Amino acid sequence: MLILVTYYSVRGSTKEIAERIGSVLSTNIAAPSTVEVLPMEQVVDLSKYSFVIIGSPVHGFVWVEYASSWLSVNSAALSNSAVWAFSVGTPFAVGKIAQRMMESKDEEKNLAAAISKDVKLEGHVLFNGKFLKSHASSKFNFWWRVFGGKFGDFREWEKIDKWTGEIGHTIVQRIGDAV
Ligand SMILES: Cc1cc2nc3c(=O)[nH]c(=O)nc-3n(C[C@H](O)[C@H](O)[C@H](O)COP(=O)(O)O)c2cc1C
Repeated sequence: MLILVTYYSVRGSTKEIAERIGSVLSTNIAAPSTVEVLPMEQVVDLSKYSFVIIGSPVHGFVWVEYASSWLSVNSAALSNSAVWAFSVGTPFAVGKIAQRMMESKDEEKNLAAAISKDVKLEGHVLFNGKFLKSHASSKFNFWWRVFGGKFGDFREWEKIDKWTGEIGHTIVQRIGDAV
């Protein structure tokens, strides 16, 4: 069976998380099943994948435009696969005041609800990504700092590996049941 990890990435952190998910799944899932990791723009035929994991950066509390359009265009094609989604933002990089203002505790839940309008999800998670000074304007960065925001690479590889491990376990079980 074929497993796809597909993503869109603006600054590279979603891409690197997708690659990590692909490599963890590859070690968990034995041949002849195989794992492919592809950017959304290179996915040709979704019907061949039994399991699909989709990732996008979050801008302004929603998936970036390319990824959300890709999802709605491909929603019918995804309806025969088991689908998981991951979002990459910086929910824990913001200061406490900004967290309250941005209601970041609801961000993961709201993202899952938005994605679920297009596809039935097996699961969704919001990971921390990278947010550097060079990613935004100096005016934005000033206010970010004022509200206690931080810059850096906040990815939690253990959390990513754990989430992926659980998906791998489910896939292995389902492949076993299907044989
Ligand atoms: C213009 C802009 C808007 C952003 N908006 C949000 C947001 O609403 N919520 C969030 O959690 N992260 C937000 N972020 C942080 C990014 O999602 C984060 O940097 C992520 O790692 C980007 O992924 P990428 O490196 O694959 O592009 C924003 C970043 C930028 C540059």
